Amino acid sequence: MAKVTVVGAGFVGATVAQYIADKDLADVVVVDVIEGMPQGKSLDLTQAAPLLGHDRRLFGTNDYSDTKNSDIVVITAGIARKPGMSRDDLLKTNASIVQSVVKETIKLSSEAIFLVVTNPLDVMTYLTWKISRLPAPRVLGMAGVLDSARFQAFIAAELGFSAKDIRCMVLGGHGDLMVPLPRYCSVNGVPITELLSKDKLDALVKRTRDGGAEIVALLKAGSAFYAPGASVALMVEAILKDTHRLLPCAVYAQGEYGLKDVYVGLPAVLSRGGVEKIVELKLHDDELGALKRSADSIRENVEVMTKLLVTA
Ligand code: NAI
Ligand code: 2OP
Repeated sequence: MAKVTVVGAGFVGATVAQYIADKDLADVVVVDVIEGMPQGKSLDLTQAAPLLGHDRRLFGTNDYSDTKNSDIVVITAGIARKPGMSRDDLLKTNASIVQSVVKETIKLSSEAIFLVVTNPLDVMTYLTWKISRLPAPRVLGMAGVLDSARFQAFIAAELGFSAKDIRCMVLGGHGDLMVPLPRYCSVNGVPITELLSKDKLDALVKRTRDGGAEIVALLKAGSAFYAPGASVALMVEAILKDTHRLLPCAVYAQGEYGLKDVYVGLPAVLSRGGVEKIVELKLHDDELGALKRSADSIRENVEVMTKLLVTA
């Protein structure tokens, strides 16, 4: 049975563990710096197993030695931005956390695939790749699946159709400059542009871009975790079951779409080895321009992070 380590047993990490077990995908080790918390949540999830009918083992720990020989390491450890905290403060804190998590986990699971969730997502994925020294196909980030799911959910609600039949792709970085692509959206093959007016679609694109902030404003403390947890579980499933699904993931661009040396959301085929290939769509000039702007902004943040880590 496969083994997945989830680092960070907070809202997202615990939800990832829950969905992985519910889907019967792997045994899960959950690690956190808070003593007792990952153990408590794992015990609770273990007690749900007889009710849900799976045999997956869930184990909470504060000790990295328990993560040895993981097939996948999911990184959700980090902090959310608090009032009075600058973006740079968040970047520096989460970069230090992710850096230490990667150093701890890679030495025990050198064959693992690393799936990053911690924000700022694209920058943290790049950092994970750099620190782990793994081949790029084995390091990827989760954001596009979540952003696409939000777009799909909003379209389903607008049309009153089943969310299952709506397919969308949101590319680019996980932030204000993400690139939802209505042209590639369909309801079971029917182009969305035949079913919704441009004005309606524009409004749904905007709601998708603001999807994370809308939930933060409602929750008051913390950010989304159900859909993020489900998005990670979907990617874990694609990798462990070697399904070759085409999903938008933060992947390392090496010339695709004219982008180089940057982790950014692009359509990728996932298989047991991680990112099997990046698929190049024939984007229009405006779509390509938006993708480039998004990648430029990620690159700038990588530079800021590098300077902050040097001075840390
Ligand atoms: P949370 O605060 O509930 O959980 C974070 C956990 O990380 C805490 O339990 C904390 O103790 C732990 N932690 C901190 N430093 C650690 C270390 N060095 N080693 C191990 N654990 C450590 O936060 P939540 O809601 O679970 O979010 C986690 C991260 O995921 C945040 O950065 C958030 O912005 C990001 N996120 C990203 C999404 C995406 O689409 N990529 C979607 C949702 C959240
Ligand atoms: C989200 O999009 C906070 O990145 C997180 O919900």
